[in-house]
Amino acid sequence: MKTIALLGSTGSIGVRTLALVAQFPERFQAVALAAGSNLELLACQVAAFHPELVSVATPELARTLAADPRMRGTEIVWGADGALAVASHGKADVVVSAIVGAAGLRPTLAAVLAGKQVALANKEALVVGGELITAAARQRGVSLMPVDSEHSALFQCLRCLDGRPRGELRRVIITASGGPFFKLPADKLRDVTVAQALRHPTWKMGSKITVDSATLMNKGLEVIEARWLFDLSPAQVDILVHPQSIVHALVELVDGSIIAHLAVADMGIPIAYALSFPERLGLAQPGPLSLAECGQLSFERPDFERFPCPRLAYEALKAGGTMPACLNAANEESVQGFLAGAARFVDIPVLVEKVMERHVNRPARALEDLLEVDGWARRATREAIERAPAVISTAGARAALAGDRHA
Ligand SMILES: NC(=O)c1ccc[n+]([C@@H]2O[C@H](COP(=O)([O-])OP(=O)(O)OC[C@H]3O[C@@H](n4cnc5c(N)ncnc54)[C@H](OP(=O)(O)O)[C@@H]3O)[C@@H](O)[C@H]2O)c1
Repeated sequence: MKTIALLGSTGSIGVRTLALVAQFPERFQAVALAAGSNLELLACQVAAFHPELVSVATPELARTLAADPRMRGTEIVWGADGALAVASHGKADVVVSAIVGAAGLRPTLAAVLAGKQVALANKEALVVGGELITAAARQRGVSLMPVDSEHSALFQCLRCLDGRPRGELRRVIITASGGPFFKLPADKLRDVTVAQALRHPTWKMGSKITVDSATLMNKGLEVIEARWLFDLSPAQVDILVHPQSIVHALVELVDGSIIAHLAVADMGIPIAYALSFPERLGLAQPGPLSLAECGQLSFERPDFERFPCPRLAYEALKAGGTMPACLNAANEESVQGFLAGAARFVDIPVLVEKVMERHVNRPARALEDLLEVDGWARRATREAIERAPAVISTAGARAALAGDRHA
């Protein structure tokens, strides 16, 4: 029996994780759940899984939840400290890290520091604090099991190198569906609506990652995630657009061989593998992959002109230090601005680039450095959106966005 603390239980990954717990009650037990503000779903989860501890975003939410009769016997905590308590729950063997955004950084680090095995979906934690988290994991002998489908695929492909010198690896390739706008001409991207951006062609996910998939920032974040999870150089991580989302990652070896991982696009597969490794569970869903029905698998290079976000992520990764934290925070706030109707789809990369240009990069020595830069980049992005509402990607507005450098 593996006991699980689940960060982000009410999200897309969280719900999928609990479906696996329900399917395999003899293998998994949920002992602690952390959510944000979706009280109704959390209360249903408590009624179904009886965790000892739950966390919500605020004390007000905690008070409301406490009045729910379904909460009898479950301790309720709140806020950032509440999520930390879930992440380091004494009875948890494994922590599934599936809070969205940099809000997952501290709980993920807390899980590692508490010596928990971590099943990592929250890629932003590694984008912001990859060096810190992986160093702590090495020190504590903690494994970081990838949940992201591309990284789970890479993890499996890279096992062909087990015991072999690392020099036999040439590069890795992660695939991108391309999102809903991959074939849209540049001038049409200006008019993209929130509803269109949230209609992903192959994956059903939370709204932030769905917009990231449409801008291709998701792939940029995944390049940084791969760098840290597998100790690769930025030049060793490539991206290919693969609209069918069947091949999730490929590993190229020095003799020219390429090892690929194929599966139906269903997050249940990588979540189950992260929880059951090295065993494989017999999953009822999504059923076997029929390559005959797929017919064709196609691949093409991403277009960094129309979709500049991955280029910005590579630049942040190469710069190192606090720059990836700056990229991530500017992206989170820009996406938020787009979802709220305050910025356009095409403004997202412009805002991120402008904020990165203003950031004076420095070594990321401690968590505090990263949190300080995260806070500054969020404020800078919000101010930029307020200063140049909904016209940010025009030349005049770009000039208006230039501000003081962040030292
Ligand atoms: N969805 C996928 O298929 C997928 C695939 C690969 C990787 N990922 C990664 O997994 C993470 C989660 O993605 P998702 O699609 O599941 O997101 P989501 O559906 O938006 O869910 C986000 C979860 O985080 C919780 N949350 C948000 N802010 C919080 C805070 N400050 N404190 C505590 N909880 C907070 C939300 O709670 P409430 O809803 O209760 O407010 C919700 O449970 C992201 O990093 C994403 O990149 C997702």
